[in-house]
Amino acid sequence: MMPEGGLRRRQHSSLRAWDDVGMLKGLSVQTVLQAGIPLVRNISELPQSDYGRGGLSHITIAGSVLHGMKEVEIWLQTFSPGSRTPIHRHSCEEVFVVLKGSGTIFLASNSHEKQPGKPQEYPIFSNSTFHIPMNDVHQVWNTNENEDLQVLVVISRPPVKVFIYEDWSMPHTAAKLKFPYYWDEDCFYSPKDEL
Ligand SMILES: *[C@@H]1O[C@H](CO)[C@@H](O)[C@H](O)[C@H]1NC(C)=O
Repeated sequence: MMPEGGLRRRQHSSLRAWDDVGMLKGLSVQTVLQAGIPLVRNISELPQSDYGRGGLSHITIAGSVLHGMKEVEIWLQTFSPGSRTPIHRHSCEEVFVVLKGSGTIFLASNSHEKQPGKPQEYPIFSNSTFHIPMNDVHQVWNTNENEDLQVLVVISRPPVKVFIYEDWSMPHTAAKLKFPYYWDEDCFYSPKDEL
């Protein structure tokens, strides 16, 4: 158990800790509340950042690292015109709800092959929804030159472990693991703080 003072100091920092083997331990709702994170949160006041990716605004609405979520995690992401995710895959389910704007989802569903290969392109639009099957390589791209693309994203099995591809012909085995992912890294809680 972390000392309470430590939790208070960190507030919007991590409420989960990585142990030596990289596993995460969730903390109870009570602990989250004690840490000064209110149950009802104003989305406009939540921490947001581009996490080093131009054109992105990411807000973790409910997260594993941030709020101790164990089964699902929810993000609100806004992509400025032309901005996009990396080409990537992850072994969790992912559901998108498009709140504003439009764009394109690129999806390579032949993940049994050695490499993603040429992806299929699907137009996405305001009030549309789509999901990404586990481990399918994909990329979300705001291809609309005039408008931001805003999506609500739900993933299972947080925190997400992302494998990133440089291009669609990169072999699956060469994809680079990024864990913890950028917004989880921000909240990394070093094990010694637990003692
Ligand atoms: C999205 O679709 C639902 C179902 O038809 C509808 O109730 C809702 O008003 C729509 N939202 C927007 C923002 O268009």
